[in-house]
Order: sequence, then C-alpha cells, then structure tokens
Amino acid sequence: MTHLDGKVAVVSGAASGIGLAVARTLTEHGARVVVADRNEDAGRKAAADIGGVFVGADVGEPADWARVVEAAERELGGVDIAHLNAGVTCPEPAIDKLTDEQYRRIMRANVDGVVFGARAVVPAMERRGGGAIVATASLAGLIPTPFDPIYALTKHAVIGLVRSLVPHLQAKGIRVNAVCPGITDTPLVGSEPRAALEQAGFPLIPATDIAAAVLMAVSGDDTGQAYVCQAGREPVAFEFRGVPGPRAAGAQGRRPPPGMGEV
Ligand SMILES: NC(=O)c1ccc[n+]([C@@H]2O[C@H](COP(=O)([O-])OP(=O)(O)OC[C@H]3O[C@@H](n4cnc5c(N)ncnc54)[C@H](O)[C@@H]3O)[C@@H](O)[C@H]2O)c1
Repeated sequence: MTHLDGKVAVVSGAASGIGLAVARTLTEHGARVVVADRNEDAGRKAAADIGGVFVGADVGEPADWARVVEAAERELGGVDIAHLNAGVTCPEPAIDKLTDEQYRRIMRANVDGVVFGARAVVPAMERRGGGAIVATASLAGLIPTPFDPIYALTKHAVIGLVRSLVPHLQAKGIRVNAVCPGITDTPLVGSEPRAALEQAGFPLIPATDIAAAVLMAVSGDDTGQAYVCQAGREPVAFEFRGVPGPRAAGAQGRRPPPGMGEV
C-alpha cells in the first residue's frame, strides 16, 4: 500500500519504541519521514534504516521544533503528517517526594513537546493545504494511574489539548487525534514492571499495533478522537460523556457549549 506517496511526516521520539514503529509504518505506506529525537545515535540509525531525515531535537525546546520543520520543508518539501509522540515517565509516585527536576523533565517532554510541536507544524501544514496531527497520549490520559500520577496529568493534558484544538485546526484543513495505548512493548517499560507483567500473564501490546492505530488516524476522516489501543483489540474511539449543563430558569433551548449536555 502506498497511499501516503508524496506525503511528508514528522515523528518525534522516533528513535525508539512506538515512534520508531510509526516511522517505519508511514515509510512502508509511501511517506518520507523526519525522525526527531534527542537520542542522536539511535535517531540517526532509525533515519538511515528508513531512508528518512534525522534532526536532533529536544521536543521541549521551541527552537528545536523550528529546526525540525525547517528541515522537513527544505529536504522533503513540507509537512503533511505530525506524530507528536516523544515522552517519558516520572519515577516518583509520591507527590510529597516529587522533585522540581522530575516534574519539569516530564512536563517538558510530554506537555511542552506536544504544544510546541503542534504550534510549529500547523503553519507548515497550512502551506500544504492541510494535514493530520496525531499525539501519543495513553490510557493514563483516560484513567487514574496512582503508580505515576504526574504521567497521568501529562496524558490527560494531551487529550484535553487535542479535543480542544479541533475547531481552530478544522478551519485550516488539519485533523488532530490522539492514540491512547495500554502497556506497550517498548524500552519505556522498565525491567521490573515488565517482569511483573510477564509473570502475571498480562499481554504487552506490540509497538506495531500502535503504529497501525496511528496510520488509521492519519488516513481516516475523524478529528478530535482519542483512540484506545488495547492488546488484541482493534483501536476504538473513546466515548466521552457530556457533562451536565447549568440548571437555569429560562435556559431551555439554548445551545450548550461543546462537550456539555443540554441546558
Ligand atoms: N510503552 C508504553 O507502555 C506506553 C503506553 C502508553 C503511551 N506511551 C507513550 O508513547 C510515547 C512513546 O513512548 P515509547 O513507549 O515508545 O518509549 P521509548 O522510550 O521507547 O521512546 C521514547 C522516545 O522519545 C525520545 N524522547 C524522550 N524525551 C524526549 C525529548 N524531550 N525530546 C526528544 N525526544 C525525546 C526518547 O529518546 C525515545 O527515543 C510516549 O509519549 C509514551 O508516554 C507509551
């Protein structure tokens, strides 16, 4: 299949795990890929393997995103697809023990990286007449994860951002969605949790399955969706309930804001 022929994709965190699988999948489907990662050695190798372009970048650094987009436009002609994927976990579950450094590190990668990435790619996509953004959130963006609360904070933030960007980006011909993987077989899963999961017979998701979900999000017509990815299941768009609207005299018949029930 080559339905992405002529398309250019930027994938952050593409030196490893999910991003690497996505970079490979998009390439197999005809796209040219910019591998953006702070890991220079693995990033260069990944780009060489897929015939892509490597740009060393910290996704929390706006100037690095400017270089990524500039390289995509100069070397590959533009940006049509962006997978905002780079991310880390936080090693401290106890809020009263969390250090400033631990907090800043994860916010920088998981939140700043998506905000600055989206901000940088949108004008480039507009120059191509539209595009598709996919952010890697997590099941931790939909459920509480007491073993890593700050990770849950960052992934809830990503989903809130993605859903809220829809109208502004729709007007520019850009779709924006999130994927929400369960525990996926990548180096992000440390050896201790991995051993415990394996012992419990809990299935890890192959990174290629998440890549297939990203490909689906890139190729379809949907926008504003958060696709739940679980082992052995097809990706499914999460169904958000609307929140109740205000109970106010005389409010009947007014249109509620997006995501809110009838007033
Ligand atoms: N593995 C899982 O179980 C799982 C589940 C749900 C969501 N996710 C998310 O998937 C995404 C990819 O994770 P993965 O599992 O492939 O992990 P990974 O560690 O294999 O890959 C992450 C990549 O991101 C890069 N990276 C990290 N911080 C960066 C920064 N500040 N600037 C540039 N590059 C940076 C790393 O160098 C690495 O190449 C993350 O956002 C993660 O939160 C992972």
